[in-house]
Amino acid sequence: QAEPIRVLVTGAAGQIAYSLLYSIAKGDVFGKDQPIILVLLDIPPMLPVVDGVVMELQDCALPLLREVIPTADEAVGFKDLDAAILVGSMPRREGMERKDLLKANVAIFKAQGGALEKYAKKTVKVLVVGNPANTNCLIAAKSAPSIPKENFSCLTRLDHNRASSQVAMRCGVSSDSVKNVIIWGNHSSTQYPDVHHAKVNVNGAEMGAYDAVKDDAWLHGDFISTVQLRGAAVIKARKLSSAMSAAKAICDHMRDIWFGTKEGEFISMGVYAAGNSYGIAEDLIYSFPIQIKNKTWKIVDGLSINDFSRAKMDATAAELVEERDTALDFLSQ
Ligand code: NAI
Repeated sequence: QAEPIRVLVTGAAGQIAYSLLYSIAKGDVFGKDQPIILVLLDIPPMLPVVDGVVMELQDCALPLLREVIPTADEAVGFKDLDAAILVGSMPRREGMERKDLLKANVAIFKAQGGALEKYAKKTVKVLVVGNPANTNCLIAAKSAPSIPKENFSCLTRLDHNRASSQVAMRCGVSSDSVKNVIIWGNHSSTQYPDVHHAKVNVNGAEMGAYDAVKDDAWLHGDFISTVQLRGAAVIKARKLSSAMSAAKAICDHMRDIWFGTKEGEFISMGVYAAGNSYGIAEDLIYSFPIQIKNKTWKIVDGLSINDFSRAKMDATAAELVEERDTALDFLSQ
């Protein structure tokens, strides 16, 4: 059997981790033949909670799970990693300014990027989930200069899945009948969910999403705002942020990195924008349409962009530039 791989999940005492760890440990992400050592990092006051999670993982009696290592120590947590899923971050508290939140997170992701640099394998695949995910990812990548920038990505797959599902429900088809939706830009309310290149399979006939939905006003209006504001809607209803769906999206994202995307399909993830053909500023982590093969991603080039899309792609890029510039100020302090 294969050698175990070392997988880190940070924010291990939190609610996303609670939904995520079982799926990883039972083989849904890295394969049913791949033994796993799970490293669970959280801050020191949360370690008693992490111990409870460790007990439950043991009690699941999962054959692929070789070892679970709870820790608050970065030297232990980031050692020899094959994959790092960075979920833990500073949450927004009432009365907290956006800038203060960004500052706290720059500190966290600078430290964790530094720990990746120092302790992880150079081949480590890093997925940043904690918000603001794109900018946190950029800071982590910049703080780990000897790890290729291509090894870093941030989660916009939840937004992607939300968009697919909205279209599927509207057309009365199953979610796997919709492919190639795109989330452009920031994992925030400026993101642009785009279905100009999406395909829907309706009773065996594949057609463009606009033909399948037959309601351009909805696609240009409520569809976009529903996806953009879905996170807030879940918080309002549940009094807690999306966790089950976020965990599912993390699994989809990492599994695609590990095993590749399906032929002829693309997914969305936030990646380093260097060399993109869509005129997006280079030094950003921006969500693009992506295909993956041999653990290597590629931005899908050459999709036609109309004026409607262009304006929205630029608006979310502008927000990311501003976020980056503020974060880089903090990074240099
Ligand atoms: P949570 O508050 O339940 O758990 C977060 C955990 O992270 C806590 O246990 C906390 O102690 C820990 N933590 C804080 N600082 C840490 C550090 N420096 N190192 C290690 N652990 C640390 O939050 P939840 O619901 O699990 O969400 C986690 C993050 O994921 C939030 O930032 C949330 O906004 C983000 N998120 C991102 C999504 C995306 O699509 N990119 C979707 C949903 C949530």
